[in-house]
Amino acid sequence: MTGIPIGVFDSGVGGLTVLRALRSAMPAESFIYLGDTARLPYGTKSAETVVRYSLQCAAALIQRRVRCLVVACNTASASALDALRAHHPALPIIGVIEPGAQAAVAASVSQHIAVIATEGTIGGGAYQTAIHRLNPSARVTSRACSLFVSMAEEGWTEGPIAEAVARRYLDPIFQRNDAPDTLVLGCTHFPVLAAALRAVLPPQVSIVDSAATTAAAVLHQLHGASGAPGALGAVSWLATDGAARFARVGSTFLGETLAAEAVEIIDL
Ligand code: DGL
Repeated sequence: MTGIPIGVFDSGVGGLTVLRALRSAMPAESFIYLGDTARLPYGTKSAETVVRYSLQCAAALIQRRVRCLVVACNTASASALDALRAHHPALPIIGVIEPGAQAAVAASVSQHIAVIATEGTIGGGAYQTAIHRLNPSARVTSRACSLFVSMAEEGWTEGPIAEAVARRYLDPIFQRNDAPDTLVLGCTHFPVLAAALRAVLPPQVSIVDSAATTAAAVLHQLHGASGAPGALGAVSWLATDGAARFARVGSTFLGETLAAEAVEIIDL
């Protein structure tokens, strides 16, 4: 085992859905996770700002020494992946959009794919580009669902309020004859809303996100997992604000209890 951790960052706790998939794919690896909670959300900010924030997140992780960087935020992947790679040419850097597009194209029979994400991700057309790279004749219907980020952060992930908001966003896409057969959750905050989305979607629609395909891409990039079989790698937790909130909300995203005392607050 190399002992050098994999760095993972997101604007907040959303990237924990990706970290969860990474840990399940490579349990013996160690990780450093950074949630830029002081500056969340990224999804409504300009691309220039998201690039600047992403470079700062990456610098904080690289300073602590990481052997690869996972951009566990679609908004940051959409706007900042090129800049991150240009600034750190020797470091493997993996975003979530390409893996998300792969999952969508693999799941869709009709190749009419819906993408929901933040304003920033939809505005830049990153998913459309990534899906068309894989299948130039695929049809992509996109919608920004900014409110889902706040609802996920607030823990309003199921029940009548979550379903009413989901209906408002999704009905115009799915309640029609030529509706897509696949929905990509193009924001790492959205997987925790899956039950509410499932409740309002036609049953034949597949829901996909980029967590598992991102973990597979990281494994591929690192040429397989390291570490002794059965060993469990450590995780260090960093956030830019609110350790207690990060731990409380993060526990839902991670699927296990996270203690506030374990979260180190840093300034970027
Ligand atoms: N989790 C981030 C993403 O995947 C967005 C949340 C935010 O707006 O900060 O796009």
